[in-house]
Amino acid sequence: MTAQEIIGKYIKFFEKRGHKRIPNSPLVLQNDPTTLFTSSGMQPLVPYFLGEKHPQGKRLVNVQNCFRAADIDEVGDDKHTTFFRMLGNWSLGDYFKKEQLPWYWEFLTKVIGLPKEKLYITVFEGFSNTPKDIESEKIWTEILENEGLDSKKKIFSYGADKNWWSRSGVPDDMPEGEPGGPDSEVFYFFENVKHDPKFGTQCHPNCQCGRFLEIGNSVFMEYQKTKNGFKPLPNKNVDFGGGAERLLAAVENKNDIFETRLFSPVIDSIEKITAKNYKKNKKAMQVIADHIIAAVFITDAGVTPSNKEQGYVLRRLLRRAIRYGKQLEASETFTAWIASSVIENYSDTDSQLMDRKKIIIGLFTEEEEKFNQAIREGLKISEKIFLTRTPIVPEEYSKIMQIPNKKEFFRNIFRKSDFKETANFLSGFGVSLTKADIGNATISGNQAFDLYQSFGFPIEMVTELAQEKRLFVDIEDFKRELKRHQKVSRKGAGKKFAGGLADHSGKTIMGHTATHLLHQALRDVLGNSVYQTGSNITSERIRFDFAYDKKLTDDEIEKVEKIINKKIEENLPVHFEIMTLDKAKEIGAIGLFDEKYEDKVKVYFIGPSTHSAASGQPHTQAYSVEFCGGPHVNFTGLLKRFKIIKQENIGHGQRRVYATIKDV
Ligand code: ALA
Repeated sequence: MTAQEIIGKYIKFFEKRGHKRIPNSPLVLQNDPTTLFTSSGMQPLVPYFLGEKHPQGKRLVNVQNCFRAADIDEVGDDKHTTFFRMLGNWSLGDYFKKEQLPWYWEFLTKVIGLPKEKLYITVFEGFSNTPKDIESEKIWTEILENEGLDSKKKIFSYGADKNWWSRSGVPDDMPEGEPGGPDSEVFYFFENVKHDPKFGTQCHPNCQCGRFLEIGNSVFMEYQKTKNGFKPLPNKNVDFGGGAERLLAAVENKNDIFETRLFSPVIDSIEKITAKNYKKNKKAMQVIADHIIAAVFITDAGVTPSNKEQGYVLRRLLRRAIRYGKQLEASETFTAWIASSVIENYSDTDSQLMDRKKIIIGLFTEEEEKFNQAIREGLKISEKIFLTRTPIVPEEYSKIMQIPNKKEFFRNIFRKSDFKETANFLSGFGVSLTKADIGNATISGNQAFDLYQSFGFPIEMVTELAQEKRLFVDIEDFKRELKRHQKVSRKGAGKKFAGGLADHSGKTIMGHTATHLLHQALRDVLGNSVYQTGSNITSERIRFDFAYDKKLTDDEIEKVEKIINKKIEENLPVHFEIMTLDKAKEIGAIGLFDEKYEDKVKVYFIGPSTHSAASGQPHTQAYSVEFCGGPHVNFTGLLKRFKIIKQENIGHGQRRVYATIKDV
């Protein structure tokens, strides 16, 4: 069975149960300043969990391309990837636990034929005032007992850190307004993997030893974070997500997802270009495969490498992949070669990649050339850092090099950053060094982090370079530095969430309504061949891209601003209607719209709502009529004043304008 077949069977299974297929949203969401990337199938559905009506109804299904930037540093084992396809089914206030759990069990055991003995279940054990999920436990007990399985050995309960889901994690980290709820996960058990006691005496579904793989998460989205805790959402919703790559690993019974048939062509191409063997170079090849796949899809979403937001993430991915390529002695510009194999591998599901191949390969090659330059600079800086330390004398250093299991030793040597303990440990191997000798020969975590951060040098590379100079690196200190940094950037992401959702009643909503006015006003002034090609809204400004190949004159800009400010002054009402796609087109709705699966669409009107297409001519009294998921302000008067602050040519016959709105 291929990943594509698993996806097809899943969609069909839920379509048969009354679900409507919704499109795969772009990896970089338009009009959503809350996150950098789509990281879960539910993300484009947030307004509907909060109570808006979805045009396709209450039962939805899809497969969504997802990217999780927070997992970049986790990649390099058998199960983590940053890019994946999430199978998703949703109930927006329709069915709940007693339908969802048996359905997913049926899908796993009957449709894709996973052996039931290999499946394990987890449920929420409760947290603070939120009670244990007894209902899910009861439903699972019945399902398992009916199958002749011992539910006591199969169901495990965990707290909020494992069995609670929201976009920003555990309840304490959720910003006000964010929806979330308890969840129930299914795990697949790999018999062939031995438990590693390093991860604890007892193995269990959430043990990190690699025996268990999570293959699906049913979230019961029924709460919304408030100032003082939680309140119930308007509906009890189901948000299910399961990674197609992981399901394939379970179907193929391969505990290393990179060995499944989805990834193996990419791994093959890495083996070929490096003339090295996967089994002996797993980590490096896993990183290269995942990062190049993710980079291909992110580039396809219109992102280019830069030092900001999505562009920075893309740069990090490419640089990390290149670094690992260097470790494997890959030729320069090897990323282009691997990207070609990725594009071919995914072209049956994402045929647009073929059309964009030239652009993607061009960008990767350019970035690789730039990074080769950064490596040269980074090596110069690292030389300078190394000169500040005193190398261990050669005799003692060579004794250290003879210690059996050296690699493991280097990994553990600074576990506590306690140089005295290290000296004691070394003396057991006949190495005579003082605490000060070790301290003087050690690169601090901070210095290593600088090389990691500024030049993309992974810690393994810094350690390797240091060893060549008979120096050590305080890896534990580096890890602390990295954690501190991740915490800061997560806070940043948290702020983005807060900005986004709380903002669903704030400035970004106004910005969103302003883009509709801008779209129509540009057409009024420049002609109807103008159409939107993209947008991005933050609480500070609106960015709007559109097809038009000339610079706007000052006079045209003034006209556009004037029209919009007039519409603001008129304080026009804004509302939406759900209608068939044909009807929306008949009345002349404009906007970005993916026609793939939807038959009913949501259309926003700015101005009076009366409309008809009776005469065969679109007619509406509304000023703007646009396909859109929302949300919007209720009246344009809230926007107060609109101003264009900058315009740019962004190539391919497109222009970009930046504008601000003043709401006070
Ligand atoms: N939204 C849930 C997840 O991403 C299903 O795990």
